[in-house]
Amino acid sequence: MLESFEVITSGGKYKVSVGEDLLPKTPTNKHTIYLIDEYLSELLNLQDQSVITIPALESSKNLDYMAEIIEKMRLLGANRGTHVFAIGGGIIQDIATFVNSIYMRGLSWTYFPSTLLSMTDSCIGGKSSINVRGYKNLVGNIYPPHEVFIDMNFCETLGANEIIGGLVEAVKICYARGPENFDQFLKLKPFYPLNAATGVQVVFAALLAKKWFIEIDEFDQSERLLLNYGHTFGHALEASSDFAISHGVAVALGMMVATEYANLIGKMDEVGKVSSARLDNYLVQLLYPLEGEIKDALSKINLKVVLSKFEGDKKHLQEEYRMVLPSNDGCLKLCSCPKNDHSKRLIEKAYQQAFLAHGYFS
Ligand SMILES: NC(=O)c1ccc[n+]([C@@H]2O[C@H](COP(=O)([O-])OP(=O)(O)OC[C@H]3O[C@@H](n4cnc5c(N)ncnc54)[C@H](O)[C@@H]3O)[C@@H](O)[C@H]2O)c1
Ligand SMILES: [Zn+2]
Repeated sequence: MLESFEVITSGGKYKVSVGEDLLPKTPTNKHTIYLIDEYLSELLNLQDQSVITIPALESSKNLDYMAEIIEKMRLLGANRGTHVFAIGGGIIQDIATFVNSIYMRGLSWTYFPSTLLSMTDSCIGGKSSINVRGYKNLVGNIYPPHEVFIDMNFCETLGANEIIGGLVEAVKICYARGPENFDQFLKLKPFYPLNAATGVQVVFAALLAKKWFIEIDEFDQSERLLLNYGHTFGHALEASSDFAISHGVAVALGMMVATEYANLIGKMDEVGKVSSARLDNYLVQLLYPLEGEIKDALSKINLKVVLSKFEGDKKHLQEEYRMVLPSNDGCLKLCSCPKNDHSKRLIEKAYQQAFLAHGYFS
């Protein structure tokens, strides 16, 4: 069954539909180009189409590579009337958002997210992030697709890391939206392996919660910033493990560290403590199938390197660290802490305590 909702933006609205077998149902009478994850292009039957395949690698999100894709589009005859179908996870989405926004000042496009992370989180909101000469996500813009089709069949070939990573972003969004949404999410009991019916419910729960954030704060000035929960602590782990810790796992661990840090600086009332403990418990259960891998990756990283990566996060201010922390009543809050030795010691302690408490450090 196909179910839909709309996202309203300053530039108009776009429709998001969730169902199965959606790819063949999207014919167009316009000149069409496919931008597609190389891995998926082997599985889909697109022989007669104009296809540009893209390896879903972090190195593909490079500004220099954008010129190559744009040239390929030109050679395939792309003009202002061309419609682009982008099929893939967050990497393909970042690239498609960027090139579609600038090719002849903007092409219309449809996005088919193929990973659970892109289905539950990135497919709405319209952001792109592109790496420049080794600087991750340094440039980007906001250029939402004209329509999104979430084909749940794509989940069938996803592994534990991808499913768990998608659930991490989903619970993050629901937690950020507030205690009621978090409760509803937990009631779905979403774990790996994820059955199809629960998958659809998770996608709706996360996207309808995210819709609220992006409609109220399209350009990331206030409420939407709360969706960075777990990311400042998590990115530091992801980068210092040389990406052996995947993005989703890093965000989960980052949320646990944020809880410890909020406890250390006395940020939470009793309701907040209970609520963040429930989130931690869910995350520990969710990560359980990857426990061995996580322990192994954490045993290889150096906490000093993690702290220096934390320090370098682009979201901090000149004089203050900025991060999203759990706060009173089970809500999140954007907080600033002075960049001094005391804060640094507490941040280090938060990393240590979070991993000791959950048995990730032996
Ligand atoms: N623009 C945004 O709002 C936003 C938000 C979050 C993350 N991101 C970016 O997204 C990227 C991560 O994206 P991701 O985790 O969605 O996946 P991805 O695009 O990195 O793909 C991960 C792996 O899964 C494979 N894959 C894709 N679909 C598959 C399927 N159906 N079955 C089996 N394998 C499949 C890919 O080939 C790749 O090997 C990062 O670069 C991150 O910075 C962007
Ligand atoms: Zn994320």
